[in-house]
Amino acid sequence: MKNLRTALILSLLAALPVLGVPVAQKAFATDPTPAVTARDVTASGRPAFTGAEGLTVQEAPPIPKDATDDRRRQRNYPEQPPVIPHQIVGYQLDLRANKCLTCHAREFTGDSQAPMISVTHFQDRDGQVLGAVSARRYFCLQCHVPQTDVQPRVPNSFRDVDSVIREKDAAAKGGE
Ligand code: HEC
Ligand code: HEC
Repeated sequence: MKNLRTALILSLLAALPVLGVPVAQKAFATDPTPAVTARDVTASGRPAFTGAEGLTVQEAPPIPKDATDDRRRQRNYPEQPPVIPHQIVGYQLDLRANKCLTCHAREFTGDSQAPMISVTHFQDRDGQVLGAVSARRYFCLQCHVPQTDVQPRVPNSFRDVDSVIREKDAAAKGGE
């Protein structure tokens, strides 16, 4: 009886990949073939490590520099963690030391003129306000990131709430 059940389960499992194949092929079939430029082909003189024919190695663009102009960026919505407008290379941020807090902690903002971490950084997950930075806000780079001046690879049609409200108002007026 037990063996029969195991055999049944095994045969069901064996059938699974077969079911998956047409779905996967369909997904790949609709993927557009990436345009290959001469630069891609000559980027590397050697064949791709897979040895497969027709494969080209794309040259990675140079890593762009971080924006470090010290100008605070507008947020796209109030809850957005502001992005970092200054250099952070080499800033120690681990269990032993938190370089960010040497400027952004309340007690150092007089000297550093850095914006203070806001009150949410003192709250634990129950909303209780603690005396020091909350553990869940300790690793700043989890949420705050530097920016680089590059074109996004995927187009983005995000509009902020102010423009959405304005468009709605304009549409309402137009409809009268
Ligand atoms: C030497 C002092 C100093 C250190 C260290 C420092 N900051 Fe800053 N930070 C500033 C100052 C000053 C500003 C205000 C804008 C400027 O001058 O760049 C700022 C701005 C920011 C902002 C933008 C705030 C806003 O409202 O737009 C973020 C986010 C930020 N820092 C995060 C960090 C993080 C994360 C680290 C650690 C990896 C860090 N900072 C380390 C001084 C510092
Ligand atoms: C879990 C995500 C998260 C982490 C981790 C985090 N922050 Fe933030 N931070 C936010 C969000 C969200 C905001 C904007 C809303 C707010 O003020 O809470 C913010 C706002 C800020 C601001 C702007 C405050 C103001 O009043 O304009 C500064 C400066 C800042 N964070 C610095 C830091 C530093 C330094 C650390 C590390 C000690 C840190 N943050 C860790 C999410 C985070």
